[in-house]
Amino acid sequence: MSIVFLNQVYLPIEEAKISPMDRGFLFGDSIYEVLPSYNGQIVGFEPHIVRLNKNISAVGIKLAWSHDAWLEICQTIIEKNGCGNLGIYLQVSRGADTKRSHAYTKDIDPTVFAFSFDIPPEQIASKLQVVPYRVAISLDLRWGRCQIKSNALLGNVMHFQEGRQKGLDETLLYNDRNELKEGSTCNVYIVKNGVVVTPPIDNHILPGVTRYILLDLLRKNDSIKVEERVILMDEVFSADEVWVTSSSKELVPVIEVDGRLIGNGQIGDVWLAAQKVYSAGKKDY
Ligand code: PDD
Repeated sequence: MSIVFLNQVYLPIEEAKISPMDRGFLFGDSIYEVLPSYNGQIVGFEPHIVRLNKNISAVGIKLAWSHDAWLEICQTIIEKNGCGNLGIYLQVSRGADTKRSHAYTKDIDPTVFAFSFDIPPEQIASKLQVVPYRVAISLDLRWGRCQIKSNALLGNVMHFQEGRQKGLDETLLYNDRNELKEGSTCNVYIVKNGVVVTPPIDNHILPGVTRYILLDLLRKNDSIKVEERVILMDEVFSADEVWVTSSSKELVPVIEVDGRLIGNGQIGDVWLAAQKVYSAGKKDY
């Protein structure tokens, strides 16, 4: 039976339970390491723990354990699970909150979990014994598959929190070509000369349901012109209006972006007209 460590307690894996409100589960808001151990000897303990502690701090999880504290957990896991060829898995999530919000409060206790699993025996430096690989190639899309509504939301959480730490409500995201993409939790629009413009769907944008309903309603209504095209950040600052949308907030006007007022800094008339169209039609979807 596998013995694991969960929040200061060693117990059989079957008895280890965490809350479904844990931010590791809800947002992928967690950090982990895997350390190899052969016959009780861990390889690379120091650099693994340096990286672990550095990453915990990089995402602002409040946990600062010493190398000795981690070593004790690793050694106890090895002792309790037999000294074979083990991968020692360490995971720290931001912890379980009472509500689901991308923003996090400072006062939740991190969840710390450790367990071990079997890994292959040590590699032998022999051309006769090694089993070589054949591999595929792919454009690197890690953290770039934003069109998938995945719970791997740590990137979103960090951007949202960035805005919150400045006392702001959202963070609008742009790419390395200065093209506006979306907000960390919502889709985004500009209005210029009465035309509503929103970035086209690609792998850096979640195809929001609110976006879909809104664009469909506006097109059917025909009183407000809609375009899906690339928006450069300069256009954001010179827009007459900026809005964001999501299922939990419908259409929200944005009056200030990065400290600069949008239009005359007032809530726009096109937003009002569009929200009216949305309010009238949304229940048909
Ligand atoms: N967020 N883009 C991102 C990154 C989002 O997380 C969301 C939704 C949207 C808008 O999608 P929709 O209109 O389908 O809600 C766009 C939800 C509300 C959330 O995570 O709380």
